[in-house]
Amino acid sequence: MAVSEVRDIAAGCRTVTLRPVGGGLLPPGEPGAHIGLHLPNGVMRQYSLLAAPTPAREYAVGVKRDPASRGGSAYICEQLRVGDELEVEAPRNNFPLAESAANTVFIAGGIGITPIWSMIQRLNALGRAWTLHYAARTREEAPFRAQLGAHPGVRFHFDAEQGGALLPVAEIVRAAPADAHLYCCGPAPMLAAFEAATAGRDPDHVHVEYFTQKHEAATEGGFLVELARTGKEVRVLPGQTILQAVRDLGVDVGFSCEEGICGACETRVLDGLPDHRDAILSEKERAANKSMFICCSGAKSPRLTLDL
Ligand code: FES
Repeated sequence: MAVSEVRDIAAGCRTVTLRPVGGGLLPPGEPGAHIGLHLPNGVMRQYSLLAAPTPAREYAVGVKRDPASRGGSAYICEQLRVGDELEVEAPRNNFPLAESAANTVFIAGGIGITPIWSMIQRLNALGRAWTLHYAARTREEAPFRAQLGAHPGVRFHFDAEQGGALLPVAEIVRAAPADAHLYCCGPAPMLAAFEAATAGRDPDHVHVEYFTQKHEAATEGGFLVELARTGKEVRVLPGQTILQAVRDLGVDVGFSCEEGICGACETRVLDGLPDHRDAILSEKERAANKSMFICCSGAKSPRLTLDL
């Protein structure tokens, strides 16, 4: 795909729009979905779609220049130009919107507004109510502030105007109706506060999106993996992930981020007990042990049987 537009939308933030070279339709992305961008510097990163039109003729994402960038946001904000061509992975959704919820409460921090912006547009199109608590360090650093400001459901919180105080996430969660679907996307401390505050709620009503690794990958090794479909078996050695061990065997498996955040390596578990280290599965899904992300998760049992 080719970059068709790059636009600054807030301090340190820009949107990037991509169109297929030669035109045509794209696989549509739902609200909350992300795409993977393979940048010319060899770095691959996931970014949330800003809208989910059907049919999809372009993808647009929002990117914030991270001062600690390891080559993703820095490249996009400083070097990416209109006309540059990138390999783009099709949309994947680990942060789906419950469109028919009676109450929807969004909590966003800075560039974490991007998947929520897409969800808000969908709920507006459906005529459904929502509330957004939107935090940023300063107003200049809050993308879509002008578009959101007119809506009665939006509560802004600018840390710099509150003596540095952070958004009171626990208070917001406490005040939300018991049947509300709650969504959070933002910096790691905000996500941690959200997960702590929502611990007692129905897990099916709690939705979180991570864009950075949540847990260290399991590389302790010392267990066997049986690949049910290929009829092969491999011992995962200390220092290896399951993904590395399986690839060393010559088995072709899908993967992308290798950090447990994109969902590309999801694999069905047929037997054994995974040691989940991803940032995608809910507690309920973890406990069910039906699937795992082999780029980062290991095993708690001496043997795992996977649908590979
Ligand atoms: S490769 Fe992204 S979750 Fe495993």
